[in-house]
Amino acid sequence: MTEKDFISDYKYNLVDKGKIESKCGSNIALIKYWGKYFPQLPANPSISYTLSESFTQTTINFEKTTKFSVQVFLGKHFNEKFSKKIEKYFLSIKPYLPFIDKYKYIIYTTNSFPHSSGIASSASGFGAIADCLVKMSTLLGEKNNEEFNKAKTSFLARLGSGSACRSVYKGLVVWGKHKTIPGSSDLYAIPFPFEISPVFKTIQDTVLLIHEGVKEISSTLGHDLMKDHPYAKTRFTEARKNLSELTMVLQKGDLETFGRIVEHEALSLHAMMMTSFPAFILMKPETLAAIKKIWEFRKDTRHHLYFTLDAGANIHLLYPEEEKNEIFPFINNELIIYSENNKLIKDKAYF
Ligand code: DP6
Repeated sequence: MTEKDFISDYKYNLVDKGKIESKCGSNIALIKYWGKYFPQLPANPSISYTLSESFTQTTINFEKTTKFSVQVFLGKHFNEKFSKKIEKYFLSIKPYLPFIDKYKYIIYTTNSFPHSSGIASSASGFGAIADCLVKMSTLLGEKNNEEFNKAKTSFLARLGSGSACRSVYKGLVVWGKHKTIPGSSDLYAIPFPFEISPVFKTIQDTVLLIHEGVKEISSTLGHDLMKDHPYAKTRFTEARKNLSELTMVLQKGDLETFGRIVEHEALSLHAMMMTSFPAFILMKPETLAAIKKIWEFRKDTRHHLYFTLDAGANIHLLYPEEEKNEIFPFINNELIIYSENNKLIKDKAYF
């Protein structure tokens, strides 16, 4: 599909008012998206797990009007910044949803996870909003083809926040054109198209909340710093190579190579941050101490416990369910000391 396929010239049946709801999981990338170009297209392909317990629930109330507006409530609280942001986003996607400015919107959104916990609320947030809007277009009479609607939801979510396009599907999700992944596209995400080894359907994600503050740098700024980055070209090539290798590993069920690639991706992401101009370091001393402990634990026990990082200090601990009884006590007794308020989020891949 091309961008043109998502442009709509449908003559909508503009109902007076209505209400749409959606729920969307956040996601954690194994191969990272870091670097983009206009209009929110990725410099390299990425793959993520959609999460089961960390999700956003959104309700959109809409009413026909001559004065378009958007009001966003986070929980019960009106949020001006988000309202402006979403209003701008709605206007930017008008070519794909021409009815959008014929309504005023009141949006209620809640996350199942704490704010600034290091779980990407923009991914699940934009995933849920895009899903509501595509459902709304169907309600107003647009053709209802499930596969196309999913692709359009992912396409629209991407325009809100790049990684959000991956949250539209459960399981393992690929975004970005890649030669070994048929159907992959820079415009929208697709479910990982190959049969994966059963062990990879049981991956647990326990998040060690090392730092709960607001992010010191926005992802958008971070992506921008890749534009003149001295290692950008090598990084994008390596991400492609890592995705090819991971594609094989996921089918074979090779946990060791999975861990090697995933940890290398996480450290490469942070290495990019540390070597950009200006440089920034999002890891905390506790992040490094926890990583060392994970490596020691692995050496001593041979258990399959691996980590990944987002654009922040928190650690996502990945391991298969069959080793939970041995691994979780280690996290709960020995790694929890590195979390700011003794807090963990217990999540898992959503299949
Ligand atoms: C480190 O999707 O948040 O989490 O497209 O500017 O909204 P924008 O960026 P965003 O970037 C995510 C970066 C990452 C890696 C990833 O999820 O692939």
